[in-house]
Amino acid sequence: MKILVTYYSRTGNTRKVAEAISETIGEDSEFKKIEDVTSFENYDLIFIGFPVYQFGVPRDVKKILNGLNRKKVACFITHAMPENAPLFGKQIDNCKSALAGNEVIEIFSCQGELSEKTAMQMANSENESMRTFAKMRKNTLNHPDKSDLDNSRQFARFVIESL
Ligand SMILES: Cc1cc2nc3c(=O)[nH]c(=O)nc-3n(C[C@H](O)[C@H](O)[C@H](O)COP(=O)(O)O)c2cc1C
Repeated sequence: MKILVTYYSRTGNTRKVAEAISETIGEDSEFKKIEDVTSFENYDLIFIGFPVYQFGVPRDVKKILNGLNRKKVACFITHAMPENAPLFGKQIDNCKSALAGNEVIEIFSCQGELSEKTAMQMANSENESMRTFAKMRKNTLNHPDKSDLDNSRQFARFVIESL
């Protein structure tokens, strides 16, 4: 079985989760930045990870997901919003919809630190929801932490065992 672990990450959070997953699966998988994947055709299982942007999938990643069809997929997501926030479920649903047409085995998500630079840009944004996000930074510090990464390893094992 050919397994790909691929991710999009601007500030490193999703990359950390991707590395934990890749290490858990071991030598049987390929590990690539999403920008470096030329084709998904030959893979039997794709672990695909990205951060939540604007309550959903980053635009560049969405284009790539649109090209995926009838693939076995396991998805991992990092986000700043706390899991008990009212809009949290909605943003995960938006990510799930972007994977429609594929066989989604499991979705893993955890918080990822909102970088200082990003929080400052958001604080100065004209968009009110972005200004609200800027205030979330302190709640995201040091994520993904050890427990998040342990959970992501468990997710990887669960996906492999469920095949
Ligand atoms: C432009 C931008 C938009 C974001 N929008 C959201 C959002 O709508 N919901 C959320 O929970 N987090 C949002 N975040 C926070 C990121 O999802 C989070 O910090 C993530 O862990 C970053 O991942 P990375 O380090 O792999 O790039 C946003 C971050 C950026 C830079």
